[in-house]
Amino acid sequence: MTDQPEIKPAEGRLGVLLPGFGAVATTFVAGVEAARQGIAEPIGSLTQLNTIRLGKRTEERTPLIRDFVPLASLDQLVFGAWDPIADDGYDSALGAGVLDRRHLDPLEDFLRSVKPMPAVFHKDYVRRLDGNNVKSGATKMELAEALREDIRRFREENECDRLVMVWCGSTEIFLRTGPVHETLEAFEEGLRSSDPNISPSMIYAYAAVLEGIPYANGAPNLSVDIPALEQAAIERGVPVAGKDFKTGQTLMKTILAPGLKARMLGIDGWFSTNILGNRDGAVLDDPDSFKTKEESKLGVLEHILQPEMYPELYGKLYHKVRINYYPPRGDNKEGWDNIDITGWMGYGMQIKVDFLCRDSILAAPIVLDLALFLDLAGRTGMKGIQEWLSFYFKSPQVAEGLYPEHDLFIQHKKLKNTLRWIGGEEPLTHLGTEYYDYE
Ligand SMILES: NC(=O)c1ccc[n+]([C@@H]2O[C@H](COP(=O)([O-])OP(=O)(O)OC[C@H]3O[C@@H](n4cnc5c(N)ncnc54)[C@H](O)[C@@H]3O)[C@@H](O)[C@H]2O)c1
Repeated sequence: MTDQPEIKPAEGRLGVLLPGFGAVATTFVAGVEAARQGIAEPIGSLTQLNTIRLGKRTEERTPLIRDFVPLASLDQLVFGAWDPIADDGYDSALGAGVLDRRHLDPLEDFLRSVKPMPAVFHKDYVRRLDGNNVKSGATKMELAEALREDIRRFREENECDRLVMVWCGSTEIFLRTGPVHETLEAFEEGLRSSDPNISPSMIYAYAAVLEGIPYANGAPNLSVDIPALEQAAIERGVPVAGKDFKTGQTLMKTILAPGLKARMLGIDGWFSTNILGNRDGAVLDDPDSFKTKEESKLGVLEHILQPEMYPELYGKLYHKVRINYYPPRGDNKEGWDNIDITGWMGYGMQIKVDFLCRDSILAAPIVLDLALFLDLAGRTGMKGIQEWLSFYFKSPQVAEGLYPEHDLFIQHKKLKNTLRWIGGEEPLTHLGTEYYDYE
């Protein structure tokens, strides 16, 4: 697709469907409502706050992104959720401990109105969790059909013009792609025979794609990152994106590593450790869920630093990531990084980062931007993997044969140039020769 696309208008209601209604999802919903009521700013969201430069620096054209491309406004959003724990939005947000009561209490009626639908959930895939707000069905295909019915009912009851789905559910155990994930036929046969290699998050992704709903995956488990669903998304004109919201320590890593590499400084070691005490931390205390997360976190440095091209700088890199469940800290995680770097003539230096971070505060604006940008992509006729949304992910989903781009600044440029392309403007190269007389 190279010509400027035609964009359908962002009219009517946009339903945002959230499998998983825990810390991230409730912080997102509460923040949108707080912004609508004018009691909090949507800080961290590009769709709400960021501008975009168009044309030359001398033209002084820098509209807000949301004034440049047609995005749904916050007032157009309605929310639906599924969770094996039946808590409504208020109780779930209170339990998550991210937001203070001074923010939650004025939003209580609204938050209580969002009640999670019974989930497609099985403890085999998230072992540290129990919940009884769960669907039953003879096969996984029956469960997928029940989700599709939920989606249609939600669309009708809430008079939605369009829907998007963002997986905010727990991290599932580590699974590899296999024959059942290769084609839609094999996947549907697997649903009928309840193949154990099909996890709940894949069933949601399947339901979304078959209902024509853009889908983003905020966790590191495969979900829509399987050939069968990627192909089905292209055939049905559905945009998809993943995996694993880029917040906290990995966000810092993809800010720092490109800077050190840009100056050709060596890195011998990067040791990252975290303590966190929320439900996500409890789930990640299970080694099989942690393995899914670990794979997602480890790939980042290798792709940014390209040790095969710079063996003298990064050939010896030792990279370690640990997550420790520590209940007293709740959602207020602490992440330490020790980075051993080398400079001129091989002299060593150290950088220490101690990030006292609020994970869900960083993740909530990502959910908002993904929902609005995926809806834009859908109205623009963009289908399949949306690599321009890599900016938001730890482990970006890319087309077969491509390596993922992890450098936050490259991702940012790609996102903005894609928006310029959607809006019929030239991409920015930052070459800038036109400002100088080179004759
Ligand atoms: N908080 C962050 O900054 C961050 C960053 C990157 C990724 N993530 C990922 O986002 C996800 C959500 O994080 P969180 O902090 O909100 O966790 P959380 O534990 O507070 O919420 C997850 C919710 O998902 C529900 N759930 C589990 N399986 C489900 C299923 N099959 N269907 C529907 N709901 C299901 C759980 O009951 C829980 O309420 C996790 O996978 C986490 O790893 C979070």
